[in-house]
Amino acid sequence: MTELGVTAQPPATGTPLLEARHLTKHFPVHQALRTARRRLRERPAGAAAAGRPVVHALEDVSIALPRAQVTAVVGESGSGKSTLARVLARLLPPTSGELLLDGRQMPASGAGRRRYARQVQLVLQDPFSSLNPVHDVRYHLARPLRIHGLGENAGSLEESITSLLERVSLTPAGQFASKYPHELSGGQRQRVAIARALAVRPTVLLADEPVSMLDVSIRLGLLNLLSDLRERERIAILYITHDIASARYLADTIAVMYAGQIVESGPAQQVTDEPAHPYTQLLLSAAPDPERAGPPVLAARGSPPSLVSPPAGCRFHPRCPHAMAICADRAPGDFDVAPGHAAACWLHAKDLDPAQAGPIARPPAGQPPAGQPDSARSSAPEPGEETR
Ligand SMILES: Nc1ncnc2c1ncn2[C@@H]1O[C@H](COP(=O)(O)OP(=O)(O)O)[C@@H](O)[C@H]1O
Ligand code: SF4
Ligand SMILES: [Mg+2]
Repeated sequence: MTELGVTAQPPATGTPLLEARHLTKHFPVHQALRTARRRLRERPAGAAAAGRPVVHALEDVSIALPRAQVTAVVGESGSGKSTLARVLARLLPPTSGELLLDGRQMPASGAGRRRYARQVQLVLQDPFSSLNPVHDVRYHLARPLRIHGLGENAGSLEESITSLLERVSLTPAGQFASKYPHELSGGQRQRVAIARALAVRPTVLLADEPVSMLDVSIRLGLLNLLSDLRERERIAILYITHDIASARYLADTIAVMYAGQIVESGPAQQVTDEPAHPYTQLLLSAAPDPERAGPPVLAARGSPPSLVSPPAGCRFHPRCPHAMAICADRAPGDFDVAPGHAAACWLHAKDLDPAQAGPIARPPAGQPPAGQPDSARSSAPEPGEETR
């Protein structure tokens, strides 16, 4: 067992194209949140030292993205998925931890910064807001090509644009190049956003909920495009989603995130067939499954905790039906449950004494458990708020 947090481990395929080690991201909460401060004063023993309130968006997250593999990060809203994508894309600096591109740290300025920005591309959830409505598709694709010196003359620029549109199956390319975002369907807009990311020949694509705003009927086409990019172009893909079923369909590896931490990771099929963490079981029980005959594995219990004052010990303990005494006191480390499959859960510890494995003290009925969302959560900052 290692200390703290599961590492989303790739199969042994050489140096990952992008690797994050022990990433932590805290957002300062500048405006006083009265309720959050009250919670800080009441913080249970074992929580971080009291100080200025921060949102603990990522805590000791390690993940590796190997070539020609899709790694999915799955979790509920607010679990830190987009923060992870933005830190990996270097749009946000981590509070601590390191990023390795091709096994090397890249300087944050000069040629290293440019190389990183070119190799690691981010595709966002909402293709409409990520495209400029006053420009046509040709403009969106020509811009990154010009900025990175990849379309020196008009002829080669036009060829590159055609090839990009063909790679994302927007054909005939000439017709799509002159369209404006409002003339495209949601799926076509997302394909343009992916083509724009591909323009600079990245080796890593970070796709943050790329299909969640699309009609169900066209999601599959987009997932298949990502799968093609993995196989044809051998790109390392991070697929972020709240939908564990789509992660199983597309991904080679799944990392499950809860309250800013990776709690389980392993081969996609194994994680979904034999989930080792109660939170993964909860996610699976909530996923629509027409083939399921019996009741859900685990009934939904409560909501994710406040990240301003997360619960001590295992952050999932207030919701966990299997919680034991130790769970409220000590954060579980990373337990191997099968080759390449690990879970951060005390249920997999072999050496708990009877007191540790005994029943957890639950708060009296009607009183919220420590770290549970309440008015502190509802007043917790939305992305971009109260952080400047
Ligand atoms: N810029 C920010 N300032 C303050 N808090 C933030 C900021 N961005 C995200 N957060 C908080 O970090 C937590 C994780 O958010 P996010 O990464 O967007 O989760 P997800 O993508 O899984 O829904 C949330 O509590 C969110 O409110
Ligand atoms: S460590 Fe304890 S509370 Fe956390 S998931 Fe495992 S059994 Fe549940
Ligand atoms: Mg998000």
